[in-house]
Formats: sequence, C-alpha cells, structure tokens
Amino acid sequence: MAKAASKTTTSKATDGYDLTRVGPGTVMGEMMRQYWIPAAASSELKADGDPMRLMLLGEQLIAFRDTSGRVGVMDHRCPHRCASLFLGRNEQNGIRCVYHGWKFDVDGKCLDMPNLPPPGFKEKVRAKSYRVREQAGLIWVYMGSREEAPPLPMHEALFVPEQDLTVTLLQREANWLQGLEGDIDTSHFGFLHAGHVNANDFEEGHPARHTVANRAPEYKVGDTEWGTMYGAFRPEAGGKMHWRMAHFSLPFWTQTPNADFADHVVAKAWVPMDDEHTMLISIYGGRAKGATYSSSKLKSGGGIPGADKLDYLPNSTDWFGRWRAVQNPRNDWEIDRAAQRENRTYTGIRNIVIQDQAVTESMGPIVDHTMEHLAPSDIMISRTRRRLLTTARAFAEKGTVPPGVDDAEVFWKARAGSFYADDKTDWQDAYQQQLKAAIRWPAPGQQAAE
Ligand code: FES
Ligand SMILES: [Fe+2]
Repeated sequence: MAKAASKTTTSKATDGYDLTRVGPGTVMGEMMRQYWIPAAASSELKADGDPMRLMLLGEQLIAFRDTSGRVGVMDHRCPHRCASLFLGRNEQNGIRCVYHGWKFDVDGKCLDMPNLPPPGFKEKVRAKSYRVREQAGLIWVYMGSREEAPPLPMHEALFVPEQDLTVTLLQREANWLQGLEGDIDTSHFGFLHAGHVNANDFEEGHPARHTVANRAPEYKVGDTEWGTMYGAFRPEAGGKMHWRMAHFSLPFWTQTPNADFADHVVAKAWVPMDDEHTMLISIYGGRAKGATYSSSKLKSGGGIPGADKLDYLPNSTDWFGRWRAVQNPRNDWEIDRAAQRENRTYTGIRNIVIQDQAVTESMGPIVDHTMEHLAPSDIMISRTRRRLLTTARAFAEKGTVPPGVDDAEVFWKARAGSFYADDKTDWQDAYQQQLKAAIRWPAPGQQAAE
C-alpha cells in the first residue's frame, strides 16, 4: 500500500514537473515550440524605435522593428562577445551592437563588421533569430526548428477585422498552467467573482445568471481534435437544458463561455514568459466583444460590484517589466477587508481579472500538484493535464506532431458560449447544431454566415 502511494506521489510530481516547465529541452517547452506563439502587441514596437526585452519560454530575447517596419526577434546576446543587443542602435534596417558595431538584420544576417579590416567574415556569423509574423494586432514568434514554419493557428478570433477586435495583455506572476486552469475551472465564478450576487439581480436570460443560480453545476468533458472541451449544464423548465461550453486548445489557449454562443468570439493565450511568469493575451472580437462578465449589467443598471477597471503600472524595460497590474502580490492585490466582511464583494478585491490573478498568484509561482485534492468539479482540469502530457510526451518520445500544428484549421471548430437546447439532445450534437447556426468570421477559403 505504502509503495503504491509513493508511486502515485512520484508520478504526480513527474507529471507536475513536465506540465509546468517550458525552457529549451523540456517536454512541454519543446511541444509549445512547435506552434506559433503570440508574444507582444504590434503597437509595442515602432519603426527604428527602442529595442525591447522579450522573455519567452525562458529565453531572453530582443525584439525590434526596423526602418521598413519588419519585426526582428532574436537572442539578446550579440553573437560576437555576447553584449546585449538591448543596448543596440536600431538604425537603417538593422540592429547594431554598441560594443564593436556589428550589425544584424531581422533575419539574424550579419550586415556589417566595422571593427575588422575587409573582408571580415560576415557570412560565417548569424544572430540567433526566430521567424515572426503579425496578425490580429499581435507579434507572433515561431521558436521551432522546421525550415518551413507551420501555418498560424486558425482561431476564429484571428480573422476578425482589427477594428472589431479588442486585444489586451496582462502579466501574471505565476506558472502558465496555473493561470490557464483558472479559465477552465468554471465553478469558481459563482464564488470568487459573484459570491455577492444573486440570480434575481440579473435579467432573465443573462449569460451570467446561471452561474449564480446554480453554484454547483454538472459537467460533460471530452477530448477534441484541438484539445479538450467541457459543457456545464443545468436543466430548465419546459424540457430545456442550459449549456455553457468552453474549450482548451493546444498548447495554451482557452475560450471561456462568458457570453451568448451565437456571436461570442474569444481566444485567450496563456503564454509562458518563463516557468514563473505568464503573459495573458486576450483577444475578443465581433459583436460580443464587450459582452463579458466584466462589462455585464445587472437589473439595477450597474455592473457586477467589483468589476472595476484594470489599472496598469507603467511599463519598464525590465525582462518582466511589461503589462504589470497595480494590484499585485506585494500589496496583497489591494484587498479591502471591510468590503469582504460586508459582502459588498465576495473577495474584497477590485476587478474581475485581478480576482483571478490574486488566487492563482497566491498559490506561489509554481503550484505543487502533490498538495492538491482535485474534486469532481475539476474534471476539466484533470482531462486537460492528461491531454497536454500525452501530446507533449508523444512528441518527445516518438516525434508525433502535436494536433493543430500542420492541421491549423482544427481550431476553427472551437467556439465557446452559453445556449439553450432540448434536454434530450446529446451535448455534442447540441454543440454542432449551435456551431452551424452561429455567426462565424471569414477565414481564408470560408465565407461568414449572413
Ligand atoms: S559584442 Fe557585439 S559587436 Fe562585439
Ligand atoms: Fe475567473
């Protein structure tokens, strides 16, 4: 017995390690490097502007936009003697190291070695650079080793015209998986965010109403071509079933169900900066871009108490200086105990995203999975961990290409939101029917429904 218990602990610890570590050579990190990764907002880089420190999957990189508008992302160390290219001069279509003047273009090609008599050996030296694309107002980086990079993932949100998109970035001081699991842990909504609100406070049919009417919903969970999905269900009068369906998409994406299914377009990336810091990149699009909980209205006309605006600290040039919230672990997320005690808000913490931020950062930088006691309400979390491990290990051990890398269109089949269905209809059939009827955004080769 004791043996079996220790074996379980060991495998839990190994699983926990493999799930959370993302540096070069790690099981999860190598799997993630097979996909395109959103890393920064396009607006963060100006042509010939300051180079930016960019931490991505535990690698210290430098990003800059050259004179022609192209973006370069490369190892921050100059390949000559490793001075940081952060100090570099971004000029005339390249970045020039300030130590001895070597200059590199966005592809890492050495353009100039002015401290050497001609001919030098420019052709022999390259800066370690990564492939870059820009889409949906974001800079995307491919850190894999393929000669030809795979296609961008076909998340519906990436095909919404930019004027109809809202893209936000927010740094979280915790492991990427810890953050992501908050998005697929739907039973927390009725407590963390809305423990102080009653169903009667919402209009009939409001997408958030059901999360407080029944704070212990039941779930269906399944693997999908793109990752995993869940459907939280609640029987309604008249032979109806209310569903809230949501997705995890490989390797670090979520789609949360916090609006009506019919026109809800969202994609959220939990991008690991390193093992202990994450950049949450949220892309909301289409008609429902404002229809999230944070902006939802109660019958009284006001928003959910505590849904205040998010305040950012000014960005700094530090490796972890971008998109930091004012409310952070060093000020206890500005928790207001009187508001908590008087139940003006359940937590006493302002802003819905910061409420998520506080609980996941409070776990410590990398949660120890051997300390947890997962419950039936956590089946989506267990299923997603299993899917991640199976996919990452299959790639590490057999070279199996992870889902969605080459067949990028699988992500197109994921849509989250809430809807009513006949209570006799199977959950997957109900999902497919809703998907057919939904307003989709045009993707290459596809037409949006009118
Ligand atoms: S270290 Fe960069 S040019 Fe010498
Ligand atoms: Fe939340």
